[in-house]
Amino acid sequence: MDVREAYLQFFKSKNHELVESAPLVPDDATLLFNNAGMVPFKSIFTGEVPPPENPRAVSCQTCVRAGGKHNDLENVGHTARHHTFFEMLGNFSFGDYFKEEAIAYAWEFVTDVMKFPKEKLWVTVHDSDDEAFEIWAKHIDRDRIKRLGDKDNFWQMGDTGPCGPCSEVFIDQGEENFNSSEDYLGGDGDRFLEIWNLVFMQFERDTKGNLTPLPKPSIDTGMGLERVVAVKEGVLSNYESSLFMPIIKKVETLVGEPYVYESGASYRVIADHIRTVTFLLAQGVNFSNEGRGYVLRRILRRGVRHGYLLGLKKPFMHKIVDVVVELMGDQYPYLAQKSPAVKEQIMLEEERFFKTIEDGITLFNEEIKRSKDVFSGETAFKLYDTFGFPLDLTEDMLREKGMQLDAETFGQLMQQQRERAKAAWKGSGDAQVLALLSDSFEREESLHARHEGWVLLDKTPFYAESGGQTGDTGRLGDVAEVLDTKKFFGLNLSKIRALKTINVGDSVHAVVDENRSEIERHHSATHLLHSALYDVLGEHISQAGSLVEAERLRFDFSHPKAMSDEEIAAVEERVNFIVQRGIAARTEEMGIEAAKKSGAKAQFGEKYGDKVRVVSFGDASVEFCGGTHVKNSSEIGLFIITKESGVSAGVRRIEAVCSKAAYNYFKQQRHTLNEAQSAVKNRDIISGVEKLKEQIKMLKEE
Ligand code: ALA
Repeated sequence: MDVREAYLQFFKSKNHELVESAPLVPDDATLLFNNAGMVPFKSIFTGEVPPPENPRAVSCQTCVRAGGKHNDLENVGHTARHHTFFEMLGNFSFGDYFKEEAIAYAWEFVTDVMKFPKEKLWVTVHDSDDEAFEIWAKHIDRDRIKRLGDKDNFWQMGDTGPCGPCSEVFIDQGEENFNSSEDYLGGDGDRFLEIWNLVFMQFERDTKGNLTPLPKPSIDTGMGLERVVAVKEGVLSNYESSLFMPIIKKVETLVGEPYVYESGASYRVIADHIRTVTFLLAQGVNFSNEGRGYVLRRILRRGVRHGYLLGLKKPFMHKIVDVVVELMGDQYPYLAQKSPAVKEQIMLEEERFFKTIEDGITLFNEEIKRSKDVFSGETAFKLYDTFGFPLDLTEDMLREKGMQLDAETFGQLMQQQRERAKAAWKGSGDAQVLALLSDSFEREESLHARHEGWVLLDKTPFYAESGGQTGDTGRLGDVAEVLDTKKFFGLNLSKIRALKTINVGDSVHAVVDENRSEIERHHSATHLLHSALYDVLGEHISQAGSLVEAERLRFDFSHPKAMSDEEIAAVEERVNFIVQRGIAARTEEMGIEAAKKSGAKAQFGEKYGDKVRVVSFGDASVEFCGGTHVKNSSEIGLFIITKESGVSAGVRRIEAVCSKAAYNYFKQQRHTLNEAQSAVKNRDIISGVEKLKEQIKMLKEE
């Protein structure tokens, strides 16, 4: 049975709109990764965005829980049901149905569609929720409904955001299979397996912890696909199901030893982690030393280290990617498209890590010999800081030796390092912006010149920095200069320098700086560059970042190796060719599905609504974009690539100029040539330099 399909079809038959899985990197600064099916709908729950025409939705959302509030990383491999990457099936009501229907649907699905035996099902409700209790009692014996507290039956997305009491459905996997002291309903054991969480969304939690009622009570549910498939297939661990066994089989072949459940934690870690790494890389996250890229790096390294334990002493993770693509490529077609680049990136990262792993493990073993029961915090920190061993990796290794870590010393050293980093960060411009952000967020009524010079205009002609396009500058009549424009919480704010007194309520004459047209030229050139790269290098390239200014552009993209001179020349030529053809730009608003069909380049990490804006230059470039552009490609004038370099493993950067900046670039080059020419006394430069070289050689010989 295809559980995913059965679930989506069931809710479609109950008039739910099928919504595609959103990117793992959410459009939400409070979250590291998309960690639940409801994340893409957060602003609908909070009322920030009006509910769609159909207030019912169903989705199968890819999720990563490997940091932040919901973090399952440490448990992975050691339990039957934790994952860093998983698919969450969910049905949602935006102010439409509530507890009554949500519970009835859940019951119908688990008993009628999944055909789970009723005598094995149990449910829990929040201890204050008599209403949910009574509704459940219409379907299931009262003694199978248990009340639990906030820890189990109150769900929230993160430290802030939508939340509410919840009710969970459990399946009893049998005392004969599980009989530890934790195997009771609500315990940590696996006997009673939670398969579905129904959240009765009623509040929004703010940064101070206060709960405010949502505009309308709503429903958010989450059913872990992996768990349900395992139950349906009659296996006691998600890893034994058809979703994971082919990956474990592949690891078996690489290791040359059969997988045995009892001692197979490392196989499971690898099987879990390769899915996460493949998806994150395919969606454009890259290995790095901070933020999401760092979590990605930690996950890969944890997988590699477990392979090392199994005797794999050379890069191997990249060899498993194909199995993931085979298993999931139908549902997520971008996996196959990106897999060559993904494999390459993984291999490079593995190679780097293997270089340090040996030294780290030697250090670890020496320390083990020295220590009695407690492993030194200093050494753990050294392993972390110098050898790139994430703490959970060291902890895993200690767990195998049955040893404790001096976590306190480790914590102190980490804290010191954090403070050093913070001190360095404080000096940067970002700190200022963040300070303003919290300030303005809390005191909306005074969002004006008083706040470090940021103003909010009723209607603004200024484009706020986004999608790589830099924010507009300009003037407010003769009262202020506009230095920058940015978006905070959906509001376009302009940073100004007041030349006269300016008050809330004043009308001002807003004028955008002329250099906006230069920004537009660079923005359109970026689109042409993107599609030329795609044509020349292949479909695996995906945008990893971009900056568009009046005098330059920068475009980062995933590609495993440096571009050759020929490739650079071919890309540059192609862009200039499109420029010279003078193709009119077209900006269209269209439905997301139509846009996708048109082949428009969309970006992972971008959240698109039902209606999207698509900017195209004939069929030379078609891209989702909210920015501003030239009217005709010929306005770009001339396009020159000034540099190609590496940013991080598997990510390349192109710097380029066009229009006026390209002209200035040429002037500068000509000036340099002229200088060189006069230095060689007006000869042809090349023969002049040759002559000088000869003279040097002669003089040296003399
Ligand atoms: N958002 C709920 C969860 O993730 C359904 O458990």
